[in-house]
Order: sequence, then C-alpha cells, then structure tokens
Amino acid sequence: MSASQRLNGLTYHLRTFGCQMSFHDSERIAGMLESLGALPVSGAEQAELVVFMTCCVREKADERLLGQVASLKNLPQPGLAPRIIAVGGCIGQRDGARLIEQLPHIDIVFGTHNLAALPDLVQAVLAGEGHQVELLACECQPATSLPSRRSQAWHAWLPIMTGCNNFCSYCIVPYVRGREKSRPFPDIMAELERLLAEGVVEVTLLGQNVNSYGRDLYGQPRFADLLVAVGQSGLARLRFTTSHPKDLSPQSIEAFAHTAAVMPHLHLPVQSGSNRVLAAMNRHYSVEHYLGLVHELRAACAMSGKGANTPALSTDIIVGFPGETEADFEATCQLVQEVGYSQAFTFIYSKRQGTPAAKVVDATPAVVIQDRFERLVTLVQQSAWQANQGELGQTVEVLVEGTSKRDANMLTGRSPKNQTVHAPAPAGVDSERLCGRILKVQVTEARTWYLRGELV
Ligand code: 5AD
Ligand code: SF4
Repeated sequence: MSASQRLNGLTYHLRTFGCQMSFHDSERIAGMLESLGALPVSGAEQAELVVFMTCCVREKADERLLGQVASLKNLPQPGLAPRIIAVGGCIGQRDGARLIEQLPHIDIVFGTHNLAALPDLVQAVLAGEGHQVELLACECQPATSLPSRRSQAWHAWLPIMTGCNNFCSYCIVPYVRGREKSRPFPDIMAELERLLAEGVVEVTLLGQNVNSYGRDLYGQPRFADLLVAVGQSGLARLRFTTSHPKDLSPQSIEAFAHTAAVMPHLHLPVQSGSNRVLAAMNRHYSVEHYLGLVHELRAACAMSGKGANTPALSTDIIVGFPGETEADFEATCQLVQEVGYSQAFTFIYSKRQGTPAAKVVDATPAVVIQDRFERLVTLVQQSAWQANQGELGQTVEVLVEGTSKRDANMLTGRSPKNQTVHAPAPAGVDSERLCGRILKVQVTEARTWYLRGELV
C-alpha cells in the first residue's frame, strides 16, 4: 500500500525548535504530509501523529524536547490506535536510536537528511513494524525537492546550502549537519521563479554559512553572483542568513550595496569582542577585521545610496565561553557600543559534548556569567533603542505581515532594516487584504523593539 493511501485523513501536529533552517524543514514536512492527505491540527491532543523538529545547539533545547516528549506519554489517545511520535532535526540526527532507548514511546527517529522518508516510516509504524530509525549520511532525496507549505504567502525561505565546514570550537552544527553542500545555481533560480509566480514578495536565502555558497561546487558562481542574479529576478525584497565574517568577500559587499532588492540589514554574528576569545573559538578573524567589514559595508552602502545609517546590523554573542575574563567581556561590550547593533541575540555558553571547547575546564562561577549576560542584555537594549531613534520622522516602506495581537486595527510589518513597525489600518479596509503589501509609513515613535507611525 502506498504512503498516500495510508496517510489520508491522518491528523498531525508539528512542533519546531531552533533556527530558520529547522523552521523551513518543518514547512517541507507539512507540505509533504499534506500532499499525502494528512491534516494539520493545532494541538497534540487531537493528533494521531506528533512530529518534533529539534535543535541541539544549546542544552536548553535538548531539555525542552525531552520534557515535551515525556509529557505526551500521559496524554489521552486521539483515536483507536496509539499516537505516533516522531523526532527529526538535529537531535534526531545526533542521537539516532539512543533516543528510543531513552524514551521508548518515541516511534520514529529521522535525521536531517531524511525528511523525505517520514511518510514511509509512519506507514511502517501503522503496519505494526515497530520502532523506525532512519539516518543517512547523504541526501538521497534532497529536502528541497519536497513541496513546502509556507506559513506566510508573501515570504519564502530559500535554502541555498546546508552544513558547515567552520568548526567553531563551541559548536555542534558541523558534527550534526555535516559538511557544506551548495545547491546547484539553476535549482535555486528555478525555485525562485516558482515562488515569484506564486506571488512571493520577500525571500530569505538560507544556509549555515551562506557566504561560502558555491565553494564546494565549482568555485563559480559564488554568493555575490547569486545575490545579483536573484536581485535581477523582479523580487521586491531579498534577505539572507547566516553570514560568517571571515567569508564575507569584497564582491559580496559590493553586491549587497548595489543590488536594490537586497534589504539594508545584515546579520553578522561576531560571538565575542575579544581577540583572545575569538581565537579560542576558532573563528578565524580579529575584532579589527570585523570592524573593517562594518566600515566597508557602510561605505559601500553610502556610495550606492542605499540609505542613511545602513546597513542595520544584528549579531549573535556568546557570554561565558570557557576562560572568558572580565577584560574579555568588557571588550565585547565595547564592540557592541562601537558597532551600534540594531539587535543582538545573546547566549550563555552551553557545553556541547564532542566539541573541542567542551574539554576546557573553566572555574568561572555561574553567577559571574549570569551577571555579565544581564549587563550585555542591557547594553544591547540601549543599542537597539539608539538605532531606532534614527528612524524618527523618516518614511519607511513596510511589508505588512498582519495586525497586532492586542489591536486588530493596528497593522504590523517590517521595515527594510527589519524593524517591527506598527501603524493604524486605514478605516474601512480589510486589514487581512493588506498582508503582503508594501506600504509607506511615517515614523512618529521609536521604541527599543518597534517603531510606530502613520500610513502615508
Ligand atoms: N553555546 C551557546 N551558544 C551557541 N551558539 C552556537 N553554539 C553555542 C553553544 N555551544 C550560538 C552562536 C550561533 C548561534 C546560532 O548560536 O552564537 O551564532
Ligand atoms: Fe556553528 Fe561556526 Fe558553523 Fe555557525 S559557522 S554553524 S557557529 S561552526
């Protein structure tokens, strides 16, 4: 019997943890299951199949998964057959069958390369074949060939590469997701064409390390060529994530500045403002090199007329890396002030078994690290507030995403610099119909995490 017959009418619930890649993988899972007749439900209670898409970058994500899976055990069954529990994503890939030993009520474990196998695995469980584990080292059917059910009609994630070769000393990703693998250029352009035909106005190119796009394929084309080609497609807004500072080439900076569709915001993870810590992290750049990139980006954007104070920069920072001293931490604070980030994602270092940093013994008390973390959060908030003040009185183009949770008459959307913007909806217009439209808003109020204004 084929998977399509067996999944007809099967109710499923999907829970996703982690990065954009994980959320995009979930869109592919949803697209695939629904194309086979499965029906999404909003809670695990009603679901005959519960799928967890997982993350193992930090320990907290591990703990949350185990807690949530454990709690399903006591949930009443949705139908006659026992609920099927499947775990995919990074924890699935890392732990494989060990997960089932730990929590025997998990039925299926599938790896990051095995999304396409899920319907057959579900079918096998339904047929009474017991636990199923599928972990492949290679992508037999790449996830990009699967249909995708996008959570927003106007925005799409577009994967351009997977894996990572960087081996930052704290990071588990290269061990789990494997080596860098670029998607062929014509494949990406063909998917882009389909997305444009479906009315998508904003695309985010996705990869663990997008700046190294093409390196493993044929040397050419590279990331800069991709930016230019996607920019010429007629797409209104182009974004990309994540960039590694060591791989941000002068060509990419030029393409960033001169491609009109590329939005004036760049996520450029710095991790630390101390050269000593950066070296121990195996990041392969110095603070001076990073600041040089920021300077080059801003100079190139000024030359190309991309707008004042562009690009807006966001970053990732780890606090409490083994051996980080107070002086190292202060250097990070200084860097945050110098760059003027519009946003920063801050993380307390989390030891990941199997990474080089996990072997380093560190006696820094947890309270000291917590105190540094809180000081950094305050600094980041000040920086975000300051960056937003520059928008007061400006007119910004906002891609409408919906209405505010608290007020159905308040539109909410994103500025080119990726700021959240609120503006009252025009009277007599159905707000839902404005979703996906780009409207001009004059900014009258600038807070730490959002701007507010009036439609022009
Ligand atoms: N501990 C804390 N943060 C981490 N990150 C990656 N690995 C770890 C770890 N072991 C952070 C980095 C990265 C982001 C996605 O997660 O800042 O850029
Ligand atoms: Fe992890 Fe570093 Fe690769 Fe990012 S670049 S995924 S932090 S190893």
